[in-house]
Amino acid sequence: MTTSTTAAPAVARASSRGSIKVAPLSCTIGAELSNVHLGAASRDAGLVAEIRALLLEHKVLFFRDQDITRAEHVAFAKHFGDLEDHPVAGSDPENPGLVRIYKTPDAPIDRYENSWHTDATWREKPPFGCVLRCIECPPVGGDTMWANMAEAYNRLPDHIKATIADLRARHSIEASFGAAMPIEKRLALKAQYPDAEHPVVRTHPETGEKILFVNAFTTHFTNYHTPERVRFGQDANPGAALLLNYLVSQAYIPEYQVRWRWKPNSMAMWDNRSTQHYAVMDYPPCHRRMERAGIVGDKPF
Ligand code: SIN
Repeated sequence: MTTSTTAAPAVARASSRGSIKVAPLSCTIGAELSNVHLGAASRDAGLVAEIRALLLEHKVLFFRDQDITRAEHVAFAKHFGDLEDHPVAGSDPENPGLVRIYKTPDAPIDRYENSWHTDATWREKPPFGCVLRCIECPPVGGDTMWANMAEAYNRLPDHIKATIADLRARHSIEASFGAAMPIEKRLALKAQYPDAEHPVVRTHPETGEKILFVNAFTTHFTNYHTPERVRFGQDANPGAALLLNYLVSQAYIPEYQVRWRWKPNSMAMWDNRSTQHYAVMDYPPCHRRMERAGIVGDKPF
């Protein structure tokens, strides 16, 4: 039985935009583009405009066989905005903004990318999007998944939409990347990157879509405790925690997702404003080396 309250999505079919071939990979999110080279696109504003339109339409774009240089990777991403480094993951010294996400068998296993998240929502201005390239990957495993958070919002029951319409929530690097640090280091990280507060439902600045905007970086609602939502003070904390867990769990629903298997020189570009992603960590003790250009975004409203 289907419980969807929205019209079924249009049937996803392969098509072309200019010279670019577009093959949707699921009914709700993600398309593989072929007949396009991002090195050439880094020097072609017209091609970039076509890719930008496709990004807004499909939310995640995938590319194979992109034997491009790091300079071309950075130059392509910079068409969409300035790049940002990451306070915990290091960047390529010769290409600032190109963050290295390198996993090796001898490094301790960390647990940051294998949670459903929107990148860096602990910033006042979380990234617009990212361009990720696979340098090295295991023969099998290490896929990445994305979820369409506009569709997740659309399909919420109406009473939940009414409850969350004015809610705001806190997002924290301290409680995520900082949690395993010694206290002094954790507090220094928090002082440099104080928690951010964002609407629980944001509006996409280009498409006008409403987007469910809570994820693994979200710690709590900041304005839940009102007479409309809380009958007795005692109800406030469990009520808020249950609602936040329910909202965060919407990204786990397979109908909103697409899954991508990497090969060296495969690339993905995602709209970080309308998606979440999860890097599946089923491959240790293999090597997996990814390089990510994160593009500065704007303040969610
Ligand atoms: C990320 O979480 O931004 C990286 C995703 C990946 O390594 O597949």
